[in-house]
Amino acid sequence: MGIETQAEFISRLDESLKTQEFVKLTLAKYRGTDAALNRIVIRAVQLKSGLKLSFTYCYKTQEIVKNYLIEPGIEIINSLLGSEFMSARLFTPDQDIQVEYNKSKKITINLLKPSSTNLYKTIPQVHDRKKTRWIESENNLYLTALGVTNEQGGIVKSMEDKFRQINKFIEIVHSLLESSGLNQKSEFSIVDMGSGKGYLTFALYDFLNTISDKRVSVTGIESRKNLVDFCNQVAASVEFEQLRFDHGTIKDHRTEATDVTIALHACDTATDDAIYQGIRSKSSLIILAPCCHKQIRKEIQPSGRLKELLKFGILLERQAEIVTDGLRALFLELSGYDAKVFEFISPEHTSKNLMVVGVKHDRAIETAAILQQIKDLKNLYGIKVHYLESLLFPDVLLSPNLADLI
Ligand SMILES: C[S@@+](CC[C@H](N)C(=O)[O-])C[C@H]1O[C@@H](n2cnc3c(N)ncnc32)[C@H](O)[C@@H]1O
Repeated sequence: MGIETQAEFISRLDESLKTQEFVKLTLAKYRGTDAALNRIVIRAVQLKSGLKLSFTYCYKTQEIVKNYLIEPGIEIINSLLGSEFMSARLFTPDQDIQVEYNKSKKITINLLKPSSTNLYKTIPQVHDRKKTRWIESENNLYLTALGVTNEQGGIVKSMEDKFRQINKFIEIVHSLLESSGLNQKSEFSIVDMGSGKGYLTFALYDFLNTISDKRVSVTGIESRKNLVDFCNQVAASVEFEQLRFDHGTIKDHRTEATDVTIALHACDTATDDAIYQGIRSKSSLIILAPCCHKQIRKEIQPSGRLKELLKFGILLERQAEIVTDGLRALFLELSGYDAKVFEFISPEHTSKNLMVVGVKHDRAIETAAILQQIKDLKNLYGIKVHYLESLLFPDVLLSPNLADLI
């Protein structure tokens, strides 16, 4: 049966949603007043609060997602078509329906061959993913919003390493939660310091709340406001209610108590700020993937044989990484944590593949022995102060003997 009027088109749209044939709808040829808006892509999504129409407003430099209940969503499409958007296309498995308005507002509607025959499912469900992998790529709305997957659930070629890293990270966190005993708790809190675009933050939230069925609040801390706004908007669009992103620096973040502190590839001394925050907020677990070890590289003043070795720039750089992270591990031990240092992903995927982990214990701390190790290492490399040390012991510059400050 032909479709000739906008009312008939809207009625077909309504029907496609009821029969679950709706794949997506695009509104194009924008003639409204917002110079930056190009088009809107509308999909149906099954969220915790029910079926919604998810509108992705595609602007020149960003995308904004808003979800609407089905009826109001259809009303919005009806009001925009022919007034602000001169073209629409409804995608269903059997056919595409193309609507065009010309300059004199005359409507033409064409029924075309379907362009979406290979679509995996017309209405993605947030909560029906298989549990065989840590994080599934199919029907994963936030991974699509973050640009890791395409609409068919395929992993975007340039994001394959990132997807692998996400799953590896989830696997490691899961095992650390088990070994630290935190997994016994059904509710706990996590802070992700320097959360960036939130790839790992979203995945961790999803894994713990959706797949593992816990109630875990996750807060990302990020200094770049555009990323914070973007991540909060994606979190709202997928209804991750206990996931939020705060704008600010790691150093200035204030939380009284946090169960898990994470900092993945937070630059240079931002990792130390995160360790300090983790210790201060009495985290049971501190998980770090350090990068850019500039502070200690500048501090190292080797003497004797070590000086001959470290005159080669690359060796000094590698050594600075080892010394920085080795001392971090010792400061964690000094603060009552069991420290572990290991490679968390193969170096062929990223060279920033070292992980430093602190698991809080309640045994007596071997303070004197650890202090001696720190002192010896600092002396060996001619280091006056490690930045983390200055956070833990603000008077260290006045009185370099840590034993006096404890
Ligand atoms: C290399 S990205 C890593 C992002 C994310 N953790 C990941 O692994 O995908 C580091 C992020 O930390 C943020 N960052 C660096 N130093 C920070 C600080 N002191 N306070 C807050 N955010 C910081 C940067 O803006 C950047 O987005």
